[in-house]
Amino acid sequence: MSKQSYHVNTQDGAAVYSDRVLKIYDWWVLGFSNRLAWKCPTHTVLLPFFRQYLSSNHLDVGVGSGFYLANSPDHPGQKLTLLDLNDNSLKAAGARIAHLQPTLVRDDVLQPGGAIGDNRFDSISLFYLLHCLPGNMAGKAPTVFATLGSHLTADGVLYGATILGDEANHNWLGRRLMNLYNRKGIFGNNRDTLTSLQSALSERFAKVAVWQTGKVALFRAQMPLP
Ligand SMILES: C[S@@+](CC[C@H](N)C(=O)[O-])C[C@H]1O[C@@H](n2cnc3c(N)ncnc32)[C@H](O)[C@@H]1O
Repeated sequence: MSKQSYHVNTQDGAAVYSDRVLKIYDWWVLGFSNRLAWKCPTHTVLLPFFRQYLSSNHLDVGVGSGFYLANSPDHPGQKLTLLDLNDNSLKAAGARIAHLQPTLVRDDVLQPGGAIGDNRFDSISLFYLLHCLPGNMAGKAPTVFATLGSHLTADGVLYGATILGDEANHNWLGRRLMNLYNRKGIFGNNRDTLTSLQSALSERFAKVAVWQTGKVALFRAQMPLP
């Protein structure tokens, strides 16, 4: 990865993913919370979106439990690289798709140490990671997009989803979870807006699409700018 970085505490957004938490992650986040708090269902919105751009040369960033990869069809000759700051996530996700022999890379997407080298990918997914990073979009997103953009092939696509901040007008459950998670540093998304996400992507990519389902922003970016 390139050496651009944004110096903040990124540990809290990753450390919560213990083996125990990862065991209930699919049920709690992808089932319960996506349906009732974030109003962006996994099986009808997020999983089809993940599958849509998954290529045979793919980098998944912020892997969590590995649910999306484990529930996507394999491409012939599939090459998968998993990047995460947390070894538990890498192990859990890696084990779920062990038959594909993924490459596991431990690195911090906000303070990259270059662990991914010069590798380039035809698709890079970034699902539910931006909202775990501290700071507003203008602070955190440029580093992430510059870094990941430098690992895309010329025709490659970066795509993902992130839970929006207070402007999304969260429901009672969403507000409770937002307050708790932001207080503990598990989320850093209070000030994240759709417009700030769009601006950060447009600074780094020539072709950008951003849209919203429930309280979640979905995005796709192509053609990284030099
Ligand atoms: C909420 S989970 C998302 C999992 C999965 N992508 C999904 O959508 O269900 C966030 C993941 O990002 C990782 N993470 C958090 N901060 C990170 C950072 N600064 N660099 C790399 N990975 C990070 C966490 O360890 C965790 O595995």
